[in-house]
Amino acid sequence: MEFDLVVKNGTVVTAQGVYRADVGIRGKHIAAIGEALHGEREIDADGMYVTPGAVDVHVHLEMPIGDFVSTDDFYAGTRAAAFGGTATIIDFVEPAPEETMLEALAALRAKADGKVVIDYGLHMTIGPTEIVKLAQVPAAYEAGCASFKLYMAYGLRLNDGELWQALTAVHNTGGLPVIHAENWDVITTLVAENVANGRTSPHYHPRSRPAKLEGEAAGRAIDIAELVGTRLYVFHVSCGETAARIAAARQRGLPIYGETCPQYLLLDWSLYDRPGVLGALPVCSPPIRAQEEQANLWRALGQNHLQVVSTDHCPFTMAEKESRSANYSQIPGGVPSIEVRFAAVYSQGVRAGHLSLAQWVDVCCTTPARLFGLQSKGEIAIGYDADLVIFDPERERVITPASLHETAGWTLYEGMMLRGWPVVTISRGKVIVENDELLVGPGYGRFIKRRY
Ligand code: URP
Ligand code: ZN
Ligand code: ZN
Repeated sequence: MEFDLVVKNGTVVTAQGVYRADVGIRGKHIAAIGEALHGEREIDADGMYVTPGAVDVHVHLEMPIGDFVSTDDFYAGTRAAAFGGTATIIDFVEPAPEETMLEALAALRAKADGKVVIDYGLHMTIGPTEIVKLAQVPAAYEAGCASFKLYMAYGLRLNDGELWQALTAVHNTGGLPVIHAENWDVITTLVAENVANGRTSPHYHPRSRPAKLEGEAAGRAIDIAELVGTRLYVFHVSCGETAARIAAARQRGLPIYGETCPQYLLLDWSLYDRPGVLGALPVCSPPIRAQEEQANLWRALGQNHLQVVSTDHCPFTMAEKESRSANYSQIPGGVPSIEVRFAAVYSQGVRAGHLSLAQWVDVCCTTPARLFGLQSKGEIAIGYDADLVIFDPERERVITPASLHETAGWTLYEGMMLRGWPVVTISRGKVIVENDELLVGPGYGRFIKRRY
């Protein structure tokens, strides 16, 4: 037989266009795209879309944050991702003050390598204690951490001078800086005012983190990046204000990029007014915004003002959220969506007319792979890794916690009906999800060294 596996008769969707073809796989790679291909195993994808394996460049698995550790470990999180059609994720290394970047990378890989069921990469975090370690940035890049996370919020935040230093170091190495942009001084002032006046319910969470100042912080980071002369990628854009800053920079010809996430595209801030713990569950930063922001974000994606949809998947259990819900500023921040992202963007994006099929694949697969140096991922083309999804555009799924493989036990998408769902996920030529079953064990995934 000419091929090991052929996906036959499907409608191939790429970022460039949509056409009917067979995809032939030899070993771990795509070997042919054409007609009447034959292989040792053939999967009939008639009536289905065949897409690249989706790429989620922003996830936090078993990550210590404050007193908690995000709930999905590297096995559970990558398993849920695989069921959702995601074949590659990028997570984070956060060095401890006394650790070198390479020691922290080795420690993270020791935790993840034996658990992951899909391929993964890692961003290197540059917090305030890494400013004295900037000489290590080239070594981290050489080790495969081609992107570097910088914060303007939380304990890991950098001041503007440190931002300048970190952006310069990453730029000189050829890496991509990525940023969490919020105005921390105003946030902490508003939180203090609210708490002092007894305004402690989650209702005040988005009202302490104004959209305008997310835009201001992103604009400030973009301005510093422009002076340094570096590229910059803005994480979890939640509002039109930030998208407009990115669009304006791109209009000036600057290499600035941005992502948004399903929680900002599909949900709105009325969730914070739900009673009891339900109002605490959606706490994440930046917060979920007023409903009109959804249209701003879809428009920004459709016009290429934003380039990627990732998840910022960072779940905590209901008990963990509840334990701190007396004061919204203490609730562990983060929400799950690693499993629903690809289907949600299709169902609520393509079917609703916000995005074309090609744009769906572009923002979920191809551009994230290209921007983050995943050189063999995100495309259906000869020589690329045979990471494919067979996607049934008619399969309906009402989202419930039990219907997902995420382990938080809750989902903000509960009750939402998505039309279109991945039915087969293929990773490096191997069928890893089929008939609602995971067909590989922990450790099947590989750490991918990324570079530009
Ligand atoms: O609230 C969030 N988003 N938690 C995850 C960490 C981050 O800021 O990305
Ligand atoms: Zn963040
Ligand atoms: Zn994040």
